[in-house]
Amino acid sequence: MVSEKNEIEPPRLGEPYLLTPGPLTTSYAVKEAMLRDWGSWDDDFRAMTRKMRTQLLDLLGSGKSDYDCVPIQGSGSYCVEAMLGSFVPRDGKVLVLANGAYGLRAAQTMEYLGRAFKLLDKGDYLPPRGDEVAEILADDPAITHVLIIHCETSSGILNPVEEIAGVVHAAGRKVLIDSMSAFGAVPLDVEQTKYAAMVSSSNKCIEGVPGFGFVIARTDELEAAKGNSHSLSLDIHAQWDTLEKKGQWRFTPPTHVVAAFLAALDAHEKEGGVEGRGGRYTRNRDVVVEGMRNLGFETLLADRWLSPIIVTFFCPASPAFEFQKFYDLMKDRGFIIYPGKLTVVDSFRIGCIGQMDEQVMRKVVTAAAQALSEMGVNDASPPQAALDERKKLAA
Ligand SMILES: Cc1ncc(COP(=O)(O)O)c(C=O)c1O
Repeated sequence: MVSEKNEIEPPRLGEPYLLTPGPLTTSYAVKEAMLRDWGSWDDDFRAMTRKMRTQLLDLLGSGKSDYDCVPIQGSGSYCVEAMLGSFVPRDGKVLVLANGAYGLRAAQTMEYLGRAFKLLDKGDYLPPRGDEVAEILADDPAITHVLIIHCETSSGILNPVEEIAGVVHAAGRKVLIDSMSAFGAVPLDVEQTKYAAMVSSSNKCIEGVPGFGFVIARTDELEAAKGNSHSLSLDIHAQWDTLEKKGQWRFTPPTHVVAAFLAALDAHEKEGGVEGRGGRYTRNRDVVVEGMRNLGFETLLADRWLSPIIVTFFCPASPAFEFQKFYDLMKDRGFIIYPGKLTVVDSFRIGCIGQMDEQVMRKVVTAAAQALSEMGVNDASPPQAALDERKKLAA
């Protein structure tokens, strides 16, 4: 909830801010929307589901007429699995572009599905680029789909989705996008990327609570998906069919989460949609990055690759720095930060999404300064190995 002074109300119960990429800090209005019970078969809830699907499609702008929206119960990974299992035919083959944990999880999902895939693994964060994807597609005509992670949340890098989608279409293949942590705050132009399907979830940039995800897919792809799925509960075609015919979810929907999500969608619209939400997150990021750099911290990524979603900082080289201690001191000051996921050097992450603004991010920087001083860390600069690692993505 944005008050008249354009300040965001702090969590009313005094709980710490979640500087994590979902679950994230939600508004009181979102939490309050969960105080009522709804009958899953009742017309009122059917109307809520319809409204939610329409509002999500509206975020696509002018290209939306070819698309439909299908919610799926569960967390984001359920939706990724549902997307891969429903849109990739059993004799299809996916090129999975990985530069972090979520790309690798998609590859693991393909293993579970027992369907053909090729993995381009760029390591902890280096972005997959159009020319290398074009080369792989030229060498392997069996590949039918390419899976792109929009924001790879494990490092915070914003991958070059448009560049990659361009070469995928030029090679006559289909694009699938995991935009879990970016949808709603980072533009994803449907006319440019022409994705067959993409997924996101309730507890990311729309700022709802966890409980379901949603797939936005071309209507012709939804029709063609019949019979592809390996799973009864993750069959997107069947869920879509039931939503279209009966207006309801196939199995028990997370009714309270949907009610909360509708409140979150209204707030998203009031904030100015993707542009307004992305603008606030970008300011959050800029304030925290500048403040942390002033303290001596270094980011993993150069500015052009930084997403407005989450930022990876290297842990200081100082022997006095200990991540768990830093975490606890930040929590004591009201901020829950996130451990890093880099395999080569130690790092931690600070999320920029959720009900927070620049004022909050300034307090995050102050808390970090106090935590360093309490730990006796005089210099927050990272070890040379971290800076050497960073040179790999100098561009
Ligand atoms: C890009 C991306 N993909 C997939 C997931 C998996 O979502 P979940 O942890 O909700 O299953 C996440 C979670 O943060 C993510 O950021």
